[in-house]
Amino acid sequence: MSNYAYVYAHFPFCDVICHYCDFYTARTKEADQVAFLAAITKEARTFLNQEKPKLQALYLGGGTPSVSPVKELGQFISGFQNHLASDAEVTLEANPNTIEDERLTAWKEMGINRISLGVQSLEDSTLKRLGRTHSGAEAIECIKKISRLFPNTSADLIYAVPGTSQDSLIEDAKKLVDLGIPHLSAYHLTLEPKHFLFSQLPTDEFASDQVERLSEYLQAQGYEHYEMSNFGKPGFRSKNNSNYWRGGPYFALGPSAHGFDGASERWKNVADWKAYINRINLEQSTVDSRESLSAEQRQIERLFTSLRTLEGLDLTRWEGDFGYSLLDRQSQAIERFVKDRLATLSNGHFVLTLKGRLLADEIVKKLI
Ligand SMILES: C[S@@+](CC[C@H](N)C(=O)[O-])C[C@H]1O[C@@H](n2cnc3c(N)ncnc32)[C@H](O)[C@@H]1O
Ligand code: SF4
Repeated sequence: MSNYAYVYAHFPFCDVICHYCDFYTARTKEADQVAFLAAITKEARTFLNQEKPKLQALYLGGGTPSVSPVKELGQFISGFQNHLASDAEVTLEANPNTIEDERLTAWKEMGINRISLGVQSLEDSTLKRLGRTHSGAEAIECIKKISRLFPNTSADLIYAVPGTSQDSLIEDAKKLVDLGIPHLSAYHLTLEPKHFLFSQLPTDEFASDQVERLSEYLQAQGYEHYEMSNFGKPGFRSKNNSNYWRGGPYFALGPSAHGFDGASERWKNVADWKAYINRINLEQSTVDSRESLSAEQRQIERLFTSLRTLEGLDLTRWEGDFGYSLLDRQSQAIERFVKDRLATLSNGHFVLTLKGRLLADEIVKKLI
């Protein structure tokens, strides 16, 4: 049986490139999307023929996959038809100004069943500062439209944007909850030190206070705070992302996409769409670099990903994978975290409290 039940496919094109964004992107205007879709469809076909997987999730991320030409996008997805489990999650990332009724219907017909919409903020002044090309009201209208066809819809928010108030995040979240959205992601704005807004970023304390209030509010509304940046109503957790946080294997398609074999091998596809298409056409490998993780790197990754989740770190699995008991080796540190209410131990799992999750970097350093 194939090792891969999860696939991430990267669609790099965006109508406007946002100044804060660090993902591999390219301008739609300068792109040959038809040639790109043909290439990624071919890469997918090779993977599916070789691996014959049964997928739990197919994630179309970007960039902005929602700007893809509909016919070619349908052809890409139809290749997966016999390789998706009956309850597989098929997510498409979308930008508010790419939502039209005909596109929504076509996406639904081609088998997409989850939309992740980049809202970022519902405050027009913040959207302007982020260089977004939609208003808060337009984003709300989009969510209403999407939700009619896709009950499984998620919205991304970015918080700790310079110039925002302590209430901004929770006010945005309240509007999204009122719309009945079942899943929300809230990302702390990260900028390179040379970015023009870097010196104006609010303090970490400001950001942590916002997350604590958001978490309390959303939990009271019936959402699980199941990962540091993610909140979902029961049954609406992202399957794709949950596999990633569990440290499970996933396959990568498209330029700049990362893959992981679930053990120690990571790889990254070439981050240049023209080079990517050329390689596919010449039947060359799309992989740009591979990395074999040392035991220590794997342990650090396992700590970083699992300690961000509500389930925390599975101590039995750790012992099986790394050959020693973390609980025995780090008993003093772990006892101290529990005493300080930064963590709990339950059912063989070491779980950080929200306060602990906000200090996860420091905690991981003390466990290695
Ligand atoms: C790869 S983007 C794709 C979403 C879509 N293109 C959009 O912008 O609406 C996924 C999400 O990453 C988040 N993101 C992008 N740049 C970020 C940054 N510098 N800091 C924090 N979150 C960021 C945004 O919330 C965005 O919706
Ligand atoms: S539209 Fe999304 S992916 Fe594209 S640059 Fe903006 S944040 Fe990044």
